[in-house]
Amino acid sequence: MVRESGAILEARDLCLRFAAVEALRSVSLTVEAGSVHALIGPNGAGKSSLLNCLSGFYRPYSGSVLFKGADISGLSPPERARGGIGRTFQGIQTYPSMTVRENILTGFHPRMKGGVFHALFRTPASIRQEEEFATKAEEIIDFLELEEVRHSPVGGLSYGLRKQVDLGRALALSPSILIMDEPMAGMSPEEKGDLARYVLDIRDRFGIPVVLVEHDMDVVMDISDRVTVLEFGAVIADGTPAEVAADPRVIAAYLGGDEETLAEGAA
Ligand SMILES: Nc1ncnc2c1ncn2[C@@H]1O[C@H](COP(=O)(O)OP(=O)(O)O)[C@@H](O)[C@H]1O
Ligand SMILES: [Mg+2]
Repeated sequence: MVRESGAILEARDLCLRFAAVEALRSVSLTVEAGSVHALIGPNGAGKSSLLNCLSGFYRPYSGSVLFKGADISGLSPPERARGGIGRTFQGIQTYPSMTVRENILTGFHPRMKGGVFHALFRTPASIRQEEEFATKAEEIIDFLELEEVRHSPVGGLSYGLRKQVDLGRALALSPSILIMDEPMAGMSPEEKGDLARYVLDIRDRFGIPVVLVEHDMDVVMDISDRVTVLEFGAVIADGTPAEVAADPRVIAAYLGGDEETLAEGAA
Protein backbone atom coordinates (compact mmCIF):
# COMPACT_ATOMS: atom_id res chain seq x y z
CA MET A 1 0.00 0.00 0.00
CA VAL A 2 1.29 3.45 -0.89
CA ARG A 3 1.81 5.52 2.18
CA GLU A 4 0.04 8.83 2.18
CA SER A 5 1.79 11.90 3.46
CA GLY A 6 0.62 15.12 5.06
CA ALA A 7 -0.79 15.83 8.50
CA ILE A 8 -3.84 13.82 9.50
CA LEU A 9 -4.11 14.90 13.14
CA GLU A 10 -2.72 18.06 14.69
CA ALA A 11 -2.67 19.56 18.13
CA ARG A 12 -1.95 23.28 18.22
CA ASP A 13 -0.80 25.01 21.38
CA LEU A 14 -2.89 22.91 23.75
CA CYS A 15 -3.06 24.14 27.33
CA LEU A 16 -4.76 22.01 29.99
CA ARG A 17 -4.89 22.55 33.74
CA PHE A 18 -6.10 20.46 36.68
CA ALA A 19 -6.40 22.73 39.73
CA ALA A 20 -2.78 23.72 40.35
CA VAL A 21 -1.32 21.24 37.85
CA GLU A 22 -0.37 22.59 34.44
CA ALA A 23 -0.85 19.26 32.61
CA LEU A 24 -0.19 20.63 29.10
CA ARG A 25 1.74 23.83 28.37
CA SER A 26 1.21 24.94 24.79
CA VAL A 27 1.69 21.47 23.35
CA SER A 28 1.73 21.05 19.56
CA LEU A 29 1.90 17.74 17.76
CA THR A 30 1.63 16.78 14.10
CA VAL A 31 0.79 13.21 13.17
CA GLU A 32 1.57 12.44 9.55
CA ALA A 33 -0.68 10.13 7.55
CA GLY A 34 0.69 6.60 7.33
CA SER A 35 3.05 6.95 10.28
CA VAL A 36 3.61 5.38 13.67
CA HIS A 37 4.07 8.26 16.10
CA ALA A 38 5.32 7.51 19.60
CA LEU A 39 4.77 9.71 22.62
CA ILE A 40 7.30 9.26 25.40
CA GLY A 41 8.22 10.96 28.65
CA PRO A 42 8.35 10.38 32.40
CA ASN A 43 5.25 9.55 34.46
CA GLY A 44 3.03 12.58 34.87
CA ALA A 45 4.52 14.31 31.81
CA GLY A 46 1.09 14.75 30.20
CA LYS A 47 1.06 11.92 27.65
CA SER A 48 -2.39 10.55 28.55
CA SER A 49 -3.72 14.10 28.90
CA LEU A 50 -2.60 14.87 25.36
CA LEU A 51 -4.23 11.70 23.99
CA ASN A 52 -7.41 12.57 25.88
CA CYS A 53 -7.43 16.02 24.29
CA LEU A 54 -7.06 14.41 20.86
CA SER A 55 -9.95 12.01 21.44
CA GLY A 56 -12.09 14.65 23.15
CA PHE A 57 -12.24 13.30 26.72
CA TYR A 58 -10.38 16.32 28.05
CA ARG A 59 -11.07 19.88 26.94
CA PRO A 60 -8.01 22.12 26.79
CA TYR A 61 -8.65 25.70 27.96
CA SER A 62 -6.81 26.97 24.91
CA GLY A 63 -5.47 25.61 21.66
CA SER A 64 -7.12 23.50 18.99
CA VAL A 65 -7.23 20.01 17.53
CA LEU A 66 -7.38 19.53 13.75
CA PHE A 67 -8.34 16.29 12.05
CA LYS A 68 -7.87 16.05 8.28
CA GLY A 69 -7.52 19.80 8.28
CA ALA A 70 -10.81 20.56 10.06
CA ASP A 71 -11.03 22.03 13.55
CA ILE A 72 -12.67 19.36 15.73
CA SER A 73 -12.06 21.08 19.08
CA GLY A 74 -15.80 21.37 19.71
CA LEU A 75 -16.67 17.71 19.00
CA SER A 76 -17.53 15.17 21.72
CA PRO A 77 -15.63 11.86 22.08
CA PRO A 78 -18.39 9.83 20.30
CA GLU A 79 -18.48 12.36 17.47
CA ARG A 80 -14.71 12.07 17.08
CA ALA A 81 -14.93 8.25 17.21
CA ARG A 82 -17.58 8.19 14.51
CA GLY A 83 -15.46 10.62 12.50
CA GLY A 84 -12.61 8.10 12.48
CA ILE A 85 -10.51 8.67 15.60
CA GLY A 86 -10.22 5.20 17.14
CA ARG A 87 -8.57 4.45 20.45
CA THR A 88 -7.65 1.88 23.03
CA PHE A 89 -7.26 2.77 26.69
CA GLN A 90 -4.73 2.14 29.43
CA GLY A 91 -5.62 -1.19 31.07
CA ILE A 92 -8.34 -3.56 29.95
CA GLN A 93 -11.67 -2.41 28.54
CA THR A 94 -13.13 -5.69 27.28
CA TYR A 95 -16.24 -7.52 28.57
CA PRO A 96 -14.91 -10.61 30.42
CA SER A 97 -17.98 -12.88 30.13
CA MET A 98 -18.43 -12.25 26.40
CA THR A 99 -16.49 -14.18 23.78
CA VAL A 100 -13.71 -12.75 21.65
CA ARG A 101 -16.06 -12.51 18.67
CA GLU A 102 -18.82 -10.85 20.71
CA ASN A 103 -16.37 -8.32 22.14
CA ILE A 104 -15.17 -7.38 18.68
CA LEU A 105 -18.79 -7.08 17.50
CA THR A 106 -19.46 -4.50 20.24
CA GLY A 107 -16.94 -2.32 18.40
CA PHE A 108 -19.46 -1.88 15.58
CA HIS A 109 -22.20 -0.43 17.82
CA PRO A 110 -21.37 3.23 17.17
CA ARG A 111 -21.75 2.52 13.42
CA MET A 112 -25.18 0.84 13.67
CA LYS A 113 -27.88 2.55 11.70
CA GLY A 114 -31.56 2.68 12.41
CA GLY A 115 -31.57 2.14 16.17
CA VAL A 116 -34.08 0.08 18.12
CA PHE A 117 -36.75 -0.19 15.42
CA HIS A 118 -34.42 -1.97 13.00
CA ALA A 119 -32.97 -4.15 15.74
CA LEU A 120 -36.38 -5.26 17.06
CA PHE A 121 -38.09 -5.91 13.75
CA ARG A 122 -35.01 -7.13 11.89
CA THR A 123 -35.56 -5.14 8.74
CA PRO A 124 -33.69 -6.19 5.58
CA ALA A 125 -31.37 -3.24 6.12
CA SER A 126 -30.50 -4.29 9.67
CA ILE A 127 -29.92 -7.90 8.58
CA ARG A 128 -27.61 -6.73 5.78
CA GLN A 129 -25.72 -4.59 8.22
CA GLU A 130 -25.36 -7.46 10.72
CA GLU A 131 -23.94 -9.64 7.97
CA GLU A 132 -21.51 -6.93 6.96
CA PHE A 133 -20.32 -6.55 10.57
CA ALA A 134 -20.03 -10.33 11.03
CA THR A 135 -17.82 -10.56 7.93
CA LYS A 136 -15.70 -7.64 9.07
CA ALA A 137 -15.35 -9.20 12.55
CA GLU A 138 -14.02 -12.39 10.97
CA GLU A 139 -11.44 -10.36 9.02
CA ILE A 140 -10.29 -8.72 12.24
CA ILE A 141 -10.13 -12.12 14.00
CA ASP A 142 -7.97 -13.44 11.14
CA PHE A 143 -5.76 -10.37 11.13
CA LEU A 144 -5.10 -10.58 14.87
CA GLU A 145 -4.73 -14.38 14.73
CA LEU A 146 -7.51 -14.94 17.24
CA GLU A 147 -9.17 -17.84 15.33
CA GLU A 148 -8.52 -20.45 18.01
CA VAL A 149 -10.06 -18.38 20.80
CA ARG A 150 -12.86 -16.70 18.85
CA HIS A 151 -15.56 -18.43 20.95
CA SER A 152 -13.73 -18.27 24.30
CA PRO A 153 -14.86 -15.84 27.00
CA VAL A 154 -12.34 -13.02 27.13
CA GLY A 155 -12.05 -13.20 30.93
CA GLY A 156 -10.14 -16.50 30.71
CA LEU A 157 -7.52 -15.25 28.26
CA SER A 158 -3.99 -14.00 28.90
CA TYR A 159 -3.46 -10.26 29.34
CA GLY A 160 -1.79 -10.01 25.94
CA LEU A 161 -4.70 -11.68 24.17
CA ARG A 162 -7.22 -9.45 25.95
CA LYS A 163 -5.30 -6.39 24.75
CA GLN A 164 -5.46 -7.83 21.24
CA VAL A 165 -9.24 -8.16 21.56
CA ASP A 166 -9.37 -4.54 22.71
CA LEU A 167 -7.43 -3.60 19.59
CA GLY A 168 -9.82 -5.66 17.46
CA ARG A 169 -12.72 -3.74 18.91
CA ALA A 170 -11.07 -0.42 18.06
CA LEU A 171 -10.43 -1.65 14.49
CA ALA A 172 -14.14 -2.47 14.07
CA LEU A 173 -14.79 1.25 13.70
CA SER A 174 -12.56 1.31 10.59
CA PRO A 175 -10.72 4.26 12.11
CA SER A 176 -8.70 6.74 10.04
CA ILE A 177 -6.24 6.93 12.92
CA LEU A 178 -5.67 4.79 16.00
CA ILE A 179 -4.64 6.19 19.37
CA MET A 180 -3.21 3.74 21.92
CA ASP A 181 -2.27 4.60 25.50
CA GLU A 182 0.46 2.25 26.75
CA PRO A 183 -0.83 -0.75 24.80
CA MET A 184 2.18 -2.83 25.81
CA ALA A 185 2.21 -2.12 29.54
CA GLY A 186 2.14 -5.38 31.50
CA MET A 187 2.93 -7.53 28.48
CA SER A 188 5.57 -10.24 28.21
CA PRO A 189 8.38 -9.59 25.70
CA GLU A 190 6.75 -12.06 23.32
CA GLU A 191 3.36 -10.35 23.57
CA LYS A 192 5.05 -6.98 23.00
CA GLY A 193 6.72 -8.33 19.88
CA ASP A 194 3.36 -9.53 18.57
CA LEU A 195 1.67 -6.22 19.25
CA ALA A 196 4.54 -4.27 17.67
CA ARG A 197 4.05 -6.36 14.53
CA TYR A 198 0.30 -5.66 14.51
CA VAL A 199 0.93 -1.93 14.88
CA LEU A 200 3.23 -1.97 11.84
CA ASP A 201 0.71 -4.09 9.93
CA ILE A 202 -2.08 -1.66 10.79
CA ARG A 203 0.05 1.11 9.28
CA ASP A 204 1.24 -0.82 6.23
CA ARG A 205 -1.72 -3.01 5.29
CA PHE A 206 -4.57 -0.72 6.27
CA GLY A 207 -2.76 2.60 5.93
CA ILE A 208 -3.96 3.59 9.41
CA PRO A 209 -1.56 5.86 11.31
CA VAL A 210 -1.00 4.95 14.96
CA VAL A 211 -0.22 7.29 17.86
CA LEU A 212 0.98 5.40 20.90
CA VAL A 213 2.45 5.94 24.34
CA GLU A 214 5.16 3.42 25.09
CA HIS A 215 7.88 3.18 27.73
CA ASP A 216 10.00 0.42 26.23
CA MET A 217 12.65 2.36 24.30
CA ASP A 218 13.66 -0.63 22.18
CA VAL A 219 10.08 -0.93 20.94
CA VAL A 220 9.79 2.83 20.36
CA MET A 221 13.05 2.92 18.38
CA ASP A 222 12.02 -0.14 16.36
CA ILE A 223 8.54 0.78 15.24
CA SER A 224 8.21 4.59 15.26
CA ASP A 225 8.54 6.91 12.31
CA ARG A 226 8.45 9.88 14.65
CA VAL A 227 8.79 10.45 18.37
CA THR A 228 7.56 13.34 20.53
CA VAL A 229 8.97 13.73 24.01
CA LEU A 230 7.00 15.39 26.80
CA GLU A 231 8.29 16.56 30.15
CA PHE A 232 6.30 18.51 32.75
CA GLY A 233 3.53 19.14 30.24
CA ALA A 234 5.76 20.55 27.52
CA VAL A 235 7.29 19.14 24.34
CA ILE A 236 11.06 18.96 24.81
CA ALA A 237 11.92 17.10 21.59
CA ASP A 238 10.30 15.92 18.39
CA GLY A 239 11.79 14.08 15.45
CA THR A 240 12.89 10.72 14.11
CA PRO A 241 13.83 8.09 16.72
CA ALA A 242 17.52 8.67 15.95
CA GLU A 243 17.21 12.46 16.32
CA VAL A 244 15.35 12.19 19.59
CA ALA A 245 17.76 9.57 20.94
CA ALA A 246 20.66 11.94 20.29
CA ASP A 247 18.98 14.98 21.88
CA PRO A 248 20.85 16.02 25.02
CA ARG A 249 17.63 17.30 26.69
CA VAL A 250 15.99 13.95 26.16
CA ILE A 251 18.97 12.05 27.48
CA ALA A 252 19.11 14.29 30.54
CA ALA A 253 15.39 14.51 31.23
CA TYR A 254 14.01 11.18 30.26
CA LEU A 255 16.84 8.85 31.08
CA GLY A 256 18.48 10.69 33.91
CA GLY A 257 21.74 10.85 31.95
CA ASP A 258 21.80 7.15 31.06
CA GLU A 259 23.06 7.66 27.53
CA GLU A 260 23.85 3.99 26.99
CA THR A 261 20.26 2.76 27.05
CA LEU A 262 18.97 5.19 24.47
CA ALA A 263 21.91 4.72 22.10
CA GLU A 264 21.43 0.95 22.28
CA GLY A 265 17.76 1.35 21.49
CA ALA A 266 18.51 3.47 18.43
CA ALA A 267 21.10 1.06 17.02
N1 LIG B 1 -8.35 13.70 35.55
C1 LIG B 1 -7.35 14.32 36.19
N2 LIG B 1 -7.56 15.04 37.32
C2 LIG B 1 -6.56 15.68 37.95
N3 LIG B 1 -5.29 15.66 37.54
C3 LIG B 1 -5.00 14.95 36.44
C4 LIG B 1 -6.01 14.25 35.71
N4 LIG B 1 -5.42 13.65 34.63
C5 LIG B 1 -4.11 13.95 34.71
N5 LIG B 1 -3.85 14.74 35.78
C6 LIG B 1 -2.54 15.29 36.16
O1 LIG B 1 -1.95 15.83 35.00
C7 LIG B 1 -0.55 15.51 34.96
C8 LIG B 1 -0.28 14.73 33.70
O2 LIG B 1 -0.87 13.43 33.84
P1 LIG B 1 -0.94 12.37 32.66
O3 LIG B 1 -1.39 13.05 31.43
O4 LIG B 1 -1.74 11.22 33.15
O5 LIG B 1 0.61 11.96 32.52
P2 LIG B 1 1.29 10.68 31.83
O6 LIG B 1 0.26 9.96 31.03
O7 LIG B 1 2.40 11.26 31.01
O8 LIG B 1 1.84 9.84 32.94
C9 LIG B 1 -0.25 14.76 36.23
O9 LIG B 1 0.26 15.67 37.18
C10 LIG B 1 -1.58 14.21 36.64
O10 LIG B 1 -1.64 14.03 38.03
MG1 LIG C 1 -0.51 7.97 31.14
